[in-house]
Amino acid sequence: MAFIRINGPTPLSGQVVAGGAKNAALPILAASLLARGTCHLSSVPRLEDVATMCQVIEGLGARLAGMERGIKVTVDDVNDRVPPEELVRKMRASVLVMGPLLARTGRARIPLPGGCAIGARPIDLHLKGFHAMGAQVSLADGEVEARAARLHGASIYLDYPSVGATENLMMAAVLAEGETVIEDAAKEPEIVDLATFLLSLGADVHGAGTPVIRIRGVGELHGADHTVIPDRIEAGTYLLAACGTQGDVSVHNVVPEHMKAVVAKLREMGAEVQVGERSVHLVMPGRVRPTDLKTFPYPGFPTDLQAPMMAVLTLAAGSSVVTETVFENRFMHASELMRLGARIRMDGRVAIIEGTDHLWGASVRATDLRAGAGLVVAGLMAHGVTDVCDAHHLDRGYDDLAGKLRKLGAHVVRVEDDDYFAERWERIHLR
Ligand code: EPZ
Repeated sequence: MAFIRINGPTPLSGQVVAGGAKNAALPILAASLLARGTCHLSSVPRLEDVATMCQVIEGLGARLAGMERGIKVTVDDVNDRVPPEELVRKMRASVLVMGPLLARTGRARIPLPGGCAIGARPIDLHLKGFHAMGAQVSLADGEVEARAARLHGASIYLDYPSVGATENLMMAAVLAEGETVIEDAAKEPEIVDLATFLLSLGADVHGAGTPVIRIRGVGELHGADHTVIPDRIEAGTYLLAACGTQGDVSVHNVVPEHMKAVVAKLREMGAEVQVGERSVHLVMPGRVRPTDLKTFPYPGFPTDLQAPMMAVLTLAAGSSVVTETVFENRFMHASELMRLGARIRMDGRVAIIEGTDHLWGASVRATDLRAGAGLVVAGLMAHGVTDVCDAHHLDRGYDDLAGKLRKLGAHVVRVEDDDYFAERWERIHLR
């Protein structure tokens, strides 16, 4: 089990470069199954989840090769084998191969992804959309199957602007007979990036980034080259870490348009933020001011930065109210933050953070990717040694987090340790 050991507090200082967006790379890798030909995908981040998605699409017939900071994907025929359960359970985004499989082969069958630490994560909106497009959908033996000789266009209204459902239905629609209209569609930048990729394959997609996406099916799609957009969540994580440690950091390879909600909140908290063409520079001259926060679908404040934000607010000069409107169980990091001395009260989807004047280091456990990021941010702010255990969660979404933080002056190291608690108990026992 790996853990990240941080000796804080340290004001972060310097330059850091954000990688390609995980949540754009994953649907785009799935979408490569739609094209007969070769796609050169650049700025694909080196992350666990990307490696998992590569395994899934290879199992379905894609041939992959590495290239300079990217992946070359060649697809001729696609098979409709069921992706292995352990891969789907490991990464829920595997569900995104359903749309391409249904469009290319007329059959998509995957193990039900099940829930995860942050919520039940149902896929009912995905399945309802496939059904509207003419697929027969059935659930049996822990698997979900959708079948259709050929999908037809449909008018689909999403009960919730689900990112994954919007992506899956876009991918199903590009080879369907006729026009599909997706209303109340998700508007995230990653949706727009997927649409840009689909258009480069020869698809007919309009309206991505707005609540109404129109797709007219075409006969076949060809290969193309694409550069994945920068990761706004990774960039936001570093900006929040700089804010929480009263640092001075520039984050490069950023699309400022994608960071508006985060930059607005940082400024509310007292940070001085300059926005450049492709970078954001943050200086935090003093103690964080408290603020109230509600997470929302884009362009609202992203739920994926709620945990790092909560970490920063634990040292604010007053109380803050954080409301998580997207997922039903995304406060797992709060109880771990309290082990560091944070004062947090929770009631359902609302957490009240009473700012304190310092945190102290302790051993904490990451329950999921972004909770782990929040705990790392808190460790950078805490006095003494903080160990963030189960650091493998972080590998899913952050490329070399410890290394990038060290370059910003943090005293942080990643330790691969088979039996963390035995080693720690031994040391405590000997004290
Ligand atoms: C994507 O997940 C992201 N993952 C998540 O990032 C992100 O937190 C989320 O969007 C919200 O922005 C990827 O893009 C790979 P949703 P997704 O469908 O598509 C409910 C990270 O840390 N819902 O927009 O699963 C659902 O339960 C990850 O990088 C249904 O009820 O999110 C949730 O409450 C975590 N039925 C809400 O919608 C459905 O059929 C938002 O889910 C689908 C979703």
